[in-house]
Amino acid sequence: SLPKKVTIIEVGPRDGLQNEKNQVETNVKLEFIRQLKKAGVTEMELTSFVSPKWVPQMSDAREIMEQADLAERSIVLAPNAKGVAYAQDSGAKSIAVFVGVSNTFNQKNINRTTAESVETLTPVLLKLKEEGVFVRACISTAFYCPYEGKIEVDDCIELCRQFVALGVDELSVADTVGMANPVESYELFTRLRQSFPSVLLTAHFHDTRKMALANIFASLQAGVDRFDTAAGGLGGCPFADGATGNVATEDVVNMLDSLGISTGIDVKQVCEAVEIIAPHVSRPIETGMYRLYENG
Ligand code: HMG
Ligand code: MG
Repeated sequence: SLPKKVTIIEVGPRDGLQNEKNQVETNVKLEFIRQLKKAGVTEMELTSFVSPKWVPQMSDAREIMEQADLAERSIVLAPNAKGVAYAQDSGAKSIAVFVGVSNTFNQKNINRTTAESVETLTPVLLKLKEEGVFVRACISTAFYCPYEGKIEVDDCIELCRQFVALGVDELSVADTVGMANPVESYELFTRLRQSFPSVLLTAHFHDTRKMALANIFASLQAGVDRFDTAAGGLGGCPFADGATGNVATEDVVNMLDSLGISTGIDVKQVCEAVEIIAPHVSRPIETGMYRLYENG
């Protein structure tokens, strides 16, 4: 049976923009964030404290944290102890770390093997939990890796188990390059839900092959009631070949609305947020609901 209520975690300001080659002005990002909050978003990834040499687009993380209209849960990403320190210094109360199941992807993304990443993050996470910080673990390449191909379900579960043992509050499990199908989504999320009943479980789908809405429906049936989405279908990891946008917030909310599942988010107001960011990004925005909105 389907849930009556779903939580949307808006990742547009972070995943949505990190791969954008035009440097978007901080003020435009702040306006985008403000409108997303106005649309009813309660959980949002605002930015990331990563190396500005690796991801120049996120180099205004501190200004964003200082000036943004914070959502109830405002999350920032950090890849290592340095990023976590910067994040906490900026006032962040919710921090996301990110590791790939695939070693090759993890090396390209954060310059460490998966095991090295878990090892160096271990003391950092234990300290964050001691301090009562909300910790989210983003698990990349959970289904497929653009370099290594198919990922074994057991390998993904094992990596998640290590983070759950460290006390993380949430697992956000990602189809980084949009290769999963609905049967695989149902199977993995069923296993995750059964294996880790006490953590928040979130599905993060990229829509590269236009299977994300189908994968979300399959995940709903597997008991998932939290989804990462990006307004305008923006997004993609710069270090994963072939990754394109996240599934679009406005299209997911519309599907959930039509299923009678409430999110507290207003589609039209999300489209107004897309309107703010659209002139500043180099890719055309072609989501179903934004097109309808534009055509009146
Ligand atoms: P490295 O070169 O191995 O880092 O990169 P290092 O520790 O050797 O340090 C090198 C330099 O970077 C030093 O500065 C450090 O101080 C600095 P220098 O002495 O040369 O002047 N540095 C930092 N500066 C700012 N913030 C930091 C930081 N750490 C070190 N946190 C590193 C390793 C992790 C830093 C780098 O690889 C990196 O920043 N990677 C980030 C990649 C990224 O942001 N990817 C996208 C997010 S993940 C994603 O999108 C997937 C997700 O959406 C789920 C999915 O869809 O799969 C979450
Ligand atoms: Mg992503």
